[in-house]
Formats: sequence, structure tokens, C-alpha cells
Amino acid sequence: MTGGLWLERVSKTFHPGTSNARRALKDVTLSIAPGEFVILIGSNGAGKSTLMNAIAGRIPVDRGRIVLDGVDITRWPEHRRAALIGRVFQDPMMGTAPSLSIAENMALAYRRGRRRVLRSFIGAKERALYREALATLELGLEARLETKVGTLSGGERQALSLLMATFVEPKLLLLDEHTAALDPKRAELVLRLTEKIVREKRLTTLMITHNMAHALRMGDRLLMMHAGEIVLDLSAEEKAQMEIDDLLRAFERVRGETFVDDRLVFSQLEGKDHAP
Ligand SMILES: Nc1ncnc2c1ncn2[C@@H]1O[C@H](COP(=O)(O)OP(=O)(O)OP(=O)(O)O)[C@@H](O)[C@H]1O
Ligand SMILES: [Mg+2]
Repeated sequence: MTGGLWLERVSKTFHPGTSNARRALKDVTLSIAPGEFVILIGSNGAGKSTLMNAIAGRIPVDRGRIVLDGVDITRWPEHRRAALIGRVFQDPMMGTAPSLSIAENMALAYRRGRRRVLRSFIGAKERALYREALATLELGLEARLETKVGTLSGGERQALSLLMATFVEPKLLLLDEHTAALDPKRAELVLRLTEKIVREKRLTTLMITHNMAHALRMGDRLLMMHAGEIVLDLSAEEKAQMEIDDLLRAFERVRGETFVDDRLVFSQLEGKDHAP
């Protein structure tokens, strides 16, 4: 089981003091227990990715504290946090190095948190380890260790990204709409893998999705963000009582408007993730 996460009154304003000022995070306080699998939903611009960027250290916060596994990481640079945090993005082009082979990418993941020696020799024992891990994806990648990652399909790359983000157990796993760019079949595959890896390793996980069916089906807890704040926090039991319609109504209540043209409705009608 991996570490817990504690956010205390975390705030972030982009372009402060200008006419473009945007309060993306407003005093966000949040506690995620070790091993908890939390789903995060919210409409476009709600602050979900900003929250992840703040946790991962991609953006500095203006105020507040971020504590991971008992360690205050608020002032840590991103690369130092990367040793503790695994991350998979929406864009399959991120998270893996396209010009490197599958084996070399796995070596990078394996060396995470240690001094990286890129293109250092990868021994037979290490290759066997990678093959074994890749086989769990059931995509046949274990037989293609020398294949350049840039030639893989989006679904294959996302599955590999997920494996790499969790190969050395992270203290925290951040998934930002990591299946949104995939076709429904590949999205389901990557979600199944996500569930398997998160449960087996009991990873503390925060996953963003726009798919209400996935939000209800997956995870132990459901958070909804709106305008930089967490406006809904449902336990697994509360979630189990809810239907997609209830969630959409909850959205309507917090937004005080209906969602004509909203991609949430779109994804629900389509029964799959929206196109990016
Ligand atoms: N680097 C940045 N510079 C300026 N403004 C930003 C930056 N990143 C995010 N924002 C703004 O902060 C707000 C929150 O954006 P964020 O990307 O966190 O939303 P989100 O909930 O992830 O939305 P989506 O569902 O569309 O991905 C938006 O108004 C966005 O324009
Ligand atoms: Mg986002």
C-alpha cells in the first residue's frame, strides 16, 4: 500500500493582478487515505488538471501545503516529485519517449528516482523483468522490446505509459483523462489494466474522467470540482446509490445551469469517452 496525500488550503491564480487573472484553485483542502482510489470529475476549466499540476509540481502554488506520505513536498521541484509520483496524461504522445525502444523506455521507468543513466546497458535479467511486466498488458509488447515506442498505436502507448508510471511503485498515481483519446475498445482495455494495477499494488490514485459511467463504476470515492473548489465528495457507499442521471443533476445544481452542448452529456450519450 502506498502513501496518503494531504492538501491544505492550496490556492493558485494564473496571471494574478492582470485582467486575465484566473483563480484556478481556491483554498482546496483534501485528504486521500493510503491506498484510496479517487475519481475526480468536473466540467471544463473546473481546475482538475491544475490540481494535478500543483500536486506533481508542474506549477508552483501561491498558498497552502502539499504533503505526500507524511513528507511536505510543497517546495520540491517537479523532477524530485517525479521520483514519488506516477503520472499518465490524456495525450498518448506524452509519458513515453518515442525515439527510444520499448526496452529503453522500461529502463527509464525502472530507474525512476535513481540517477538516470540513459542508454546504459540493459542486462538479460532486466530484459526478462520487462518482458514479464509487459506480458501483463496482454498486447504482445513483450515480444517487441526493440520496437521504437513512436511506432506504437495510441492505445498501446497509453498501456505502456500506465505500466511505466507504476512499474516502480509510486507513492501516488495521477491519471488525467488517460483514456480520453482512445477508441472505446482500447479505452476499456486501459481502464481494466488501471483497475488491475491500482488494486493489486493498492496504489493511492487520483483519476480524472469526463465519463460519468466510469466515474460511478470505478474507484472508492468520487470528487467533483467546480470553479476551483471541490463541491462534492461521495464515498463508495454513496456512489453505489447513484445513477448517471443523479450525477448529471448534481452537476446542474453546482453550476446552476443546464448543460446543453456540454461534452459530459455527449460522452454519456455516446457511452464512451469524448474525443479530445
Ligand atoms: N498554465 C496556465 N496558464 C493560465 N491559465 C491556466 C493555465 N492552466 C490552466 N489555466 C486556467 O485555469 C482554469 C482551470 O484549468 P484546468 O486545466 O485545471 O481545468 P480542467 O478542470 O482540467 O478542465 P478540462 O476538463 O477542460 O481539462 C482554466 O480557466 C484554465 O484556462
Ligand atoms: Mg484538464
